Amino acid sequence: MSRLAAAEWRKNGARLFTVIARILQNSTDAPANMNRRVEPELLDALPANDPRAIRSRLDLRRVNALMGNAGVIARAVLQASGGLPLRQLVDLGAGDGAFMLRLAKRLSPAWPNVEVTLVDRQDIVNAETRREFEALSWSARSVAADVFDWLSRTTDPRVDLVTANLFLHHFADPALRRLMELASGRTNCFAACEPRRYPAALRASQWLWLLGCNSITRHDAVASVRAGFDGPELSALWPGNGSWRLREEAAGLFSHLFVGNARPPRK
Ligand SMILES: C[S@@+](CC[C@H](N)C(=O)[O-])C[C@H]1O[C@@H](n2cnc3c(N)ncnc32)[C@H](O)[C@@H]1O
Repeated sequence: MSRLAAAEWRKNGARLFTVIARILQNSTDAPANMNRRVEPELLDALPANDPRAIRSRLDLRRVNALMGNAGVIARAVLQASGGLPLRQLVDLGAGDGAFMLRLAKRLSPAWPNVEVTLVDRQDIVNAETRREFEALSWSARSVAADVFDWLSRTTDPRVDLVTANLFLHHFADPALRRLMELASGRTNCFAACEPRRYPAALRASQWLWLLGCNSITRHDAVASVRAGFDGPELSALWPGNGSWRLREEAAGLFSHLFVGNARPPRK
């Protein structure tokens, strides 16, 4: 297939997928058993330079675009910041940085000169992505580390915002509770966008072949929805005592938004 034909196929696939997704979303079937289930994802086990991993990370960009997660987080954090520009951001499980770049494109008009730290086990932020951050007058630093290690060891000062996209669902509740405890000590604002665990999202995740996604992405998408969130599940794990204002809700077609704001903001 020529490049042009492949692009056309993907474009049509995306349109068809959106139509099917809307039909699925509006379907009134009774939910299947959808207790939260965390299982290993294939992308996490592949070396960064494995062609299947490289392809799957490109798929992830399209999945993120379809889910509209950058828009969901951008609107939520602009609202949460009350119009004040933020200066230091950390993205946990940032992958190749493409998601944060998409977010930066939305936030940079309101928030210039931001320093963003991209934390991921794999060191895969390429030069082109870094240049695109610079073009927005943002500076991006990548840190190759396990987020638990990094959060517990970093000596960086507290940042204005910590984000996570399609990342929290990797962890079972006890690890998540620990992650949130560590993250809450590093910021006054935490925002995450995750798969929403509900039947329409599960069905849609089984249709990703329509977008030309590879077997790794197709496996991980289904696993991600099963490990996703519904209702106030993340709020229940956030370290409480009333000192945080929490917001948690369904967002877009398939996403689940969580935002925590310290009140009053700590210095
Ligand atoms: C589904 S990808 C999401 C990447 C990115 N946030 C996005 O939206 O495109 C999950 C990422 O989490 C990373 N990851 C998984 N467990 C991790 C851990 N314990 N510490 C740091 N990164 C981790 C993986 O390497 C992968 O890049």
